[in-house]
Amino acid sequence: MERSLTMELVRVTEAAAIASGRWIGSGRKDEADAAATSAMREVFDTIPMRGTVVIGEGEMDEAPMLYIGERLGLGYLPEVDVAVDPLEGTNIVANGLWNALAVVAIAPKGGLLHAPDMYMDKIAVGPKAVGQVDLDAPVIDNLKAVAKANGKDIEDLVAVLLDRPRHAKIIEEIRKAGARIKLIPDGDVAAALNTGFYDTGVDILFGSGGAPEGVLAAVGLKCLGGEMIGRLLPEDEEQFQRCLRMGIEDPKKVLRMADLVRTDDAIFAATGVTDGELLRGVRYKGDKVQTHSLVMRAKTGTIRFMEGTHRLEKRPNTVLE
Ligand code: FBP
Repeated sequence: MERSLTMELVRVTEAAAIASGRWIGSGRKDEADAAATSAMREVFDTIPMRGTVVIGEGEMDEAPMLYIGERLGLGYLPEVDVAVDPLEGTNIVANGLWNALAVVAIAPKGGLLHAPDMYMDKIAVGPKAVGQVDLDAPVIDNLKAVAKANGKDIEDLVAVLLDRPRHAKIIEEIRKAGARIKLIPDGDVAAALNTGFYDTGVDILFGSGGAPEGVLAAVGLKCLGGEMIGRLLPEDEEQFQRCLRMGIEDPKKVLRMADLVRTDDAIFAATGVTDGELLRGVRYKGDKVQTHSLVMRAKTGTIRFMEGTHRLEKRPNTVLE
C-alpha cells in the first residue's frame, strides 16, 4: 500500500475526533458516536483507495454508514480492508473520562480478521514480552513471564483490565500474585496500545472486550512489534453461526497475531478525543482546534505522533477541505 495513505488516515481520525470532541461531558454517547461516524465517513470519500469496511458500525441494516461491506474511497487501487471505530469509548466521551479515541486501520484485501460484534477474550503485551504469554495459562504464569521479559519484579507490573464484574476472578488472581492493577471504565484499544509504550506504565492487558476492538488493537500492536492473543466468545448459537458466516471456521480457536492481522503491510491511525496516557484529547479555542494523533505502519515499524492545528476560519468544514 502507498505510504502516503498514512497521512490520509490521520485526516480521517482527526475529523472524527474533532466532531465527537464537542460532545465531551454531554451525557449523550449516541450523538457523540454519530458525529464521529459521519465526519469519518465524509473524509473517506476523499482518499485514493478502493476500500471495503470489514469492521465497522454494524451490519448494513443496523448502521446508516460505515457498515460492514460498505465501499469507501475514491475507487483507485489499492484494494484494502478497512476497520473503523469512529469513536472508541462512547461512554468515555459522554462522561468526559480518559482515553477515548477515533481509530482506523487498513490492510490489503483479506489482511484483517472479519471479527463479528461479540466479546473476545484478550491478552496483550508490548514488544519485549512477545511470545511469552498464553491466553490459557494461569494468570500468575503470564505475570511471571512478563515480569521476566520486561526486567521487573511482579510487584512492579501494572495489569490493565476493563472494570467489569466478569473480570472478578482475574483481578483476584492478579492481586494474589502481587502485581498492580489499573481498572478502566471503557476503552480497551487504548489500554492494549499502552502496553507497547514504556512510558504509559502499563505492562499487560487482560480480560474480555469487543472483538472488533481486539482486531483494531492487534493492528496497532503489530505496528509496535507487540502482541495480542484473542479468542472469540460467542454467547449463543446465533453468535456462533454468525462467526461461521463471517468466514471463521473454528470460532473457539485461539487467535494469534497471524490470524488477527494476516499481513505485514497494515496501517493504524488514532486521534485522541479525550486525554489519555498516549494522546491528548481535542482542544478547541476560538477558530482553532488542536488534535493529537498516532499513525504507524507495520511494514516499516514507523511510529509517528502528530500534532494538528486546524483553522476553522480557513476551513469552516474541517472535514472535507
Ligand atoms: P464503545 O465505544 O462501543 O462504547 O466501546 C467501548 C468499550 O469499552 C470497548 O473499548 C470495549 O472493547 C467494550 O466497550 C467492552 O464492552 P462492555 O462495555 O460490554 O464490557
